[in-house]
Amino acid sequence: MKKTFTLAHISDVHLTPLLGFGPQHWNLKRSLGFVNWARSRRLVHRRDVADELAADMWRQDADHVAVTGDIANLGLPEEIGAALGWLKTVGPPDKVTAIPGNHDIYTRRASGPYCLDIWRDYIAADAWGAEFAGATRELFPFVRRAGPLAIVGLNSAIPTRPFIAAGRLGREQLAALDDILERLGRENLVRIVLIHHPPLPGQTAQRRALLDAADLATVLSERGAELVLHGHNHRDSLVWHPGKEGLIPIVGVASGSATRTHGPEPLGRYNLFRFSDDGIEMRVRGLAAEGGGVVDIARFELQPGAQPLFV
Ligand SMILES: [Fe+2]
Ligand SMILES: [Fe+2]
Repeated sequence: MKKTFTLAHISDVHLTPLLGFGPQHWNLKRSLGFVNWARSRRLVHRRDVADELAADMWRQDADHVAVTGDIANLGLPEEIGAALGWLKTVGPPDKVTAIPGNHDIYTRRASGPYCLDIWRDYIAADAWGAEFAGATRELFPFVRRAGPLAIVGLNSAIPTRPFIAAGRLGREQLAALDDILERLGRENLVRIVLIHHPPLPGQTAQRRALLDAADLATVLSERGAELVLHGHNHRDSLVWHPGKEGLIPIVGVASGSATRTHGPEPLGRYNLFRFSDDGIEMRVRGLAAEGGGVVDIARFELQPGAQPLFV
């Protein structure tokens, strides 16, 4: 039996081109989002970068891939369909787990949460995890098994007003998460929590923050988890959160499709976590130069006190 298990984490690929505009899709939020995309984001995010990183994951012996949302830009139905096509090129549903981001569930107008339907193979519990869903529960949190890992997928994406990129889990999802983490903890599994928004208070500006981050922080403290992965900030980050059995690493990954830097946002990257009896080794892989190949950006043991050099 293989002694290690490797999980790759990519996020915020913001695939283009933007597809499928119709009069029924337009509102102020999408109009402003389109202007922002056309002025700057269009020049940053490129599908070929996302494809290159995805191919590199498998070359690096990834066993499973986590995609933490913002696959689309304006949440248009055709974008969501194209995003499903991209997920399929990354890998089959038993090798790839996704959750939505605020750009996937963008606005209520015209098919807001469409991704929850058509991405279902990638964002629903597997047969093993189905027993962790309660009778009244929605799709999230879902639980999936990947080797020694129990992956818990959350949905923090909610339709919002213009200029707002905030998220919320809500009381039901938090209560379900509390129960699931407690049950999985008893089974001695490596609990990996996926969420699009940074999970802790103060990790981003309020207008783009998780509104119930304080409640999530409490659940994580009381129930514990072995690793929390998120996107949304388009920057690498590592913070430690006190949990029941010790400090929990909270790891944010940069965008997986940036072909040029954008303010503090680096070129396209993804993270690799190798789980073994010795602990978790983390590697940041990505582009070191515009138009260059995928290389190691950082490599270290993921343990308290680790001082990764993110550049
Ligand atoms: Fe994003
Ligand atoms: Fe986001």
